[in-house]
Amino acid sequence: METTLAIVKPDGVKRGLIGEILKRYENKGLRLKAAKVIVPTLELLEKHYEEHKSKPYYKPLIQYMSSGPVFAMVLEGENAVKIVRLLNGATKVEEALPGTIRGDFASSTTFNIIHGSDSIESAKREIALWFPELA
Ligand code: TYD
Ligand code: MG
Repeated sequence: METTLAIVKPDGVKRGLIGEILKRYENKGLRLKAAKVIVPTLELLEKHYEEHKSKPYYKPLIQYMSSGPVFAMVLEGENAVKIVRLLNGATKVEEALPGTIRGDFASSTTFNIIHGSDSIESAKREIALWFPELA
């Protein structure tokens, strides 16, 4: 069975959207395998976003992600990686369709409420980073 990592980002937690977001995943048939509320360390975030290191949005992204508690979760189900990405919506705020989490709740590309792993390989790498205790 496929597993993936989703993270409710600091603004999502501050706005009280954890339940709303988890409900959408569960309604779609995904199962919650592990979850935690943590303030991620810079070290964890630098590893998590290492492919974005040279991008202009990298610094604000890391600052934002370390600005408060996030809700990290491991979700399991058939096609879990793709389904979470579909429910999350497009990265760019102006492309995130209504009915998706970003389309309904995000008004900025950088502060876009939710993360989802983009492939099975990324999911494995990210779950190992955020939930080393599951290994
Ligand atoms: P990316 O992996 O491309 O998007 P996704 O989260 O949909 O997998 O980018 C990682 C994060 O970087 C994204 O969620 C928000 C931030 N970001 C920006 O702030 N500006 C941008 O132009 C892009 C592409 C990403
Ligand atoms: Mg990504």
